[in-house]
Amino acid sequence: MKKVKFAVIGLGYIGNIHLEIISKLENAEVAAVCDRRPDHAQETAAKYGCEFFTDYRKLLEANVCDAVLIATPHYQHTQVGIDALDAGFHVLVEKPISVHKADALRLIAAGKGKKQIFAAMLNQRTDPRYIKIKQLIDGGDLGELVRVNWIITDWFRTDAYYGSGTWRATWAGEGGGVLLNQSVHQLDLLAWLCGMPSKVRGFCGLGKRHNIEVEDEVTAFLDYPNGATGVFITTTGEAPGTNRLEICGDNGKVVAEGDRMTFYRNEVGAEEFKTTCKEGMAAPAVEAIEMTFETADPGHAAIIENFVDAVLNGAELIGPAHEGIDSVELANAILYSSLVGKMIDLPLDAQSYEDKLKQLIADSAAQRA
Ligand SMILES: NC(=O)c1ccc[n+]([C@@H]2O[C@H](COP(=O)([O-])OP(=O)(O)OC[C@H]3O[C@@H](n4cnc5c(N)ncnc54)[C@H](O)[C@@H]3O)[C@@H](O)[C@H]2O)c1
Repeated sequence: MKKVKFAVIGLGYIGNIHLEIISKLENAEVAAVCDRRPDHAQETAAKYGCEFFTDYRKLLEANVCDAVLIATPHYQHTQVGIDALDAGFHVLVEKPISVHKADALRLIAAGKGKKQIFAAMLNQRTDPRYIKIKQLIDGGDLGELVRVNWIITDWFRTDAYYGSGTWRATWAGEGGGVLLNQSVHQLDLLAWLCGMPSKVRGFCGLGKRHNIEVEDEVTAFLDYPNGATGVFITTTGEAPGTNRLEICGDNGKVVAEGDRMTFYRNEVGAEEFKTTCKEGMAAPAVEAIEMTFETADPGHAAIIENFVDAVLNGAELIGPAHEGIDSVELANAILYSSLVGKMIDLPLDAQSYEDKLKQLIADSAAQRA
């Protein structure tokens, strides 16, 4: 059987999880590993019986793999990705595909017109709850979007977590906080399910719940092109957290919380009922369809298997890399709105945001420490 030879760049928390997954696949193998920390790279290579590198450019020159999986901190995704694509490799890049929209555009441009597979680790797209919601939306069961609310506050993180890497929770190292690192998953799903809003207004607490400089508490208002509205609430500082998604359409409402989901199906669409019903305070009859899902699996394996299937057999990607820009743009726009204190129109002006981020880095106490 033909096997996809992987090189994993960045051998930290998630790089090691991905290595375990790849090493167990029948149609893939670990061909090389790369990390800036030489001891770590060497130890990991010994574990998987493969070559190791401490400079990703040397790895690309060595030509020992078919595909690279980029699991470095956020800022490196753009340049490592561009170099890997230009060198002719298939690329699977961790989320967020880049720190900011301008970099994401550069990275996506490098993949354009190339034959290689270029995917992003948008792993929560494999969650059965969200697959079901996507079917309800795309199949028209939910009807036209009216309102979306997502309370996603179960990303609780301790001070020990923020201290676990010098790149974490700084403008220069991570480029953002809960929006860009943790709930970037839900921002991806939000764009995937509901499309992009046309305006956002964010209220972000910078270091409000931890001694960090980036945002760790966020409430955002979203305004969609058809007049639908949304509220997105997230934090890493609240326990116990909540993960409750409610999407209301003309034909009903879906409510997902934990492993349970209910689809409330209107027997008559709300718009039609409103204009045809002769009673003043009546509402459409509703059927409540209860569903339970197994949600423990984060979906990393499914994304890697899908990527391998795309390389070997041309399978359709679950997370094409170019779609990874939406969550980056939403994270950037919500933060930008909060920083400048006004509503932001989308598409976001990528250059303005990049300039703002550069200013945050220049003013950063963490940077000077
Ligand atoms: N999809 C998910 O569920 C998920 C979960 C966790 C992390 N992540 C993402 O994975 C990425 C890495 O996160 P992490 O928690 O594993 O970080 P980490 O700090 O644990 O590991 C990062 C590793 O990259 C190495 N590194 C840094 N720069 C490098 C370079 N230029 N070349 C080679 N190695 C380099 C570091 O030495 C370190 O070992 C981030 O983008 C993060 O957001 C995704």
